[in-house]
Amino acid sequence: MIQTEVGKDILKAKLHLADSEVVAIPTETVYGLAANGLNSVAIAKIFTAKKRPLSNPLILHYKDTPSAFNDVIKIPDAARLLAQEFWPGPLTMLLPKKSHIPDSVTAGKHRVAIRVPNHPVTRALLESLDFPLAAPSANLYGCISPTTANHVLDQLNNRIPYILDGGKCNKGIESTIVGFDDGEVVVYRLGGIDIEALENCINKKILVTNKNNDDNEPLASGMVKHHYAPTTPLYSILEKDNKINLKNYGFIGLKNLDKDIPTENQYLLSSNGDLKEAAQQLYASFHVMDAKNYEAIFVELVPELELGRSINDRIRRALQKTKHKKSP
Ligand code: TXA
Ligand code: MG
Repeated sequence: MIQTEVGKDILKAKLHLADSEVVAIPTETVYGLAANGLNSVAIAKIFTAKKRPLSNPLILHYKDTPSAFNDVIKIPDAARLLAQEFWPGPLTMLLPKKSHIPDSVTAGKHRVAIRVPNHPVTRALLESLDFPLAAPSANLYGCISPTTANHVLDQLNNRIPYILDGGKCNKGIESTIVGFDDGEVVVYRLGGIDIEALENCINKKILVTNKNNDDNEPLASGMVKHHYAPTTPLYSILEKDNKINLKNYGFIGLKNLDKDIPTENQYLLSSNGDLKEAAQQLYASFHVMDAKNYEAIFVELVPELELGRSINDRIRRALQKTKHKKSP
C-alpha cells in the first residue's frame, strides 16, 4: 500500500511526477490527479488510482497558451480569442492532436482536451516541468469531485503518493469544455465559464450539446448522469412531504432556509444569492451533507442563468442518481 502524504512542497510533487508517479494538484476548479501527459506508464496509473474506465479521455494541463497550442493543429480564430480571454482559467478546448500525444490520453480520439489552469501552485509546478500534466478530477470514478486536499485524501488515501495542498478551489466547479465543429463553437460540458461570457468573447451564438461529435456517444464523464452525486439519496425540495418527520433530513439551498427542516440540517450556498459563491460551495455542500448520514437530502435548483446553469446541471445529474428510488 502507498502511504499518501499531504504537503505544499512543489519540488516533491515534481520529483514524484518525474518518477512516473501520480500527484493530486490544486486547480481553480477542482483538484486534479496529475501525471506526465506524454508518458503512457504514468498515465495508466491515473486510471488505476481513480478506478476509471480507459475509454474516458483526460485533459492536458499546460503552463501557458503557446505550449498548449503547440500540441494541437487546425486552431480556429475562435479558439485563439477564447484562449486570450479565458486562459489561464476554467476553460478546456478540444482540438485535433499532434501525433506525439499518447492515445491513452485521448482514449484513441483524434481531438485532445487542453487547458491552462489558473492556480498559483500548479502554475509554478507546470513552469518547472518540460511536459504537460494529464489530469482528471481527483475523485474515485463516479464520486464527488474534490475541492480541498482533504476531500482528495478521503477518497484516494493510500492509492497515490502525494497530494499537493493549494487550499480551497475558488471556482469549485469543473472547467467548461468547448469544441469547434464546422465553424460553430459547441459547449460539451457546462462549467466554470458561463455561456454568456463565451458568447460575448467570440461575438457569436454558442450551441450546447451532450453528444460527442466524433462518435455520438455522451462526450464527457461529466455527461454521464450518475456523476457528481452524494451517496445519500438526493431529492428535489419540490418532492418534500411535510407529513414525514423531517428531523433527519438535510437541505441544500441557495439563500433561503426551508421552513420545515431543522435549521442546523441546512446548508445555504450563498447568503446573498451570489452564483459564483454558490458554485464554489456546491461540491463542498455535497461532501459535508453526505457525511451527516441523513435519511435523504433535499436540494433546490438555483436561477437558470450564468453560472446558475452549470450549478443546476450538476444538481440535476446528482438528482438523477436517486431518480429510480421512491421519494420520502
Ligand atoms: O476543471 C476541470 O476540467 C478538472 C480540472 C482537474 O482540470 N478536470 C476534469 O477532468 O474535470 P475530468 O476527467 O473529470 O473531466 C474531463 C472530461 C472527461 O469526462 C472526458 O470525457 C472529457 O473531459 N474529455 C477529455 N478529453 C476528451 C477528448 N479528447 N474528447 C472528448 N472528451 C474529452
Ligand atoms: Mg471528473
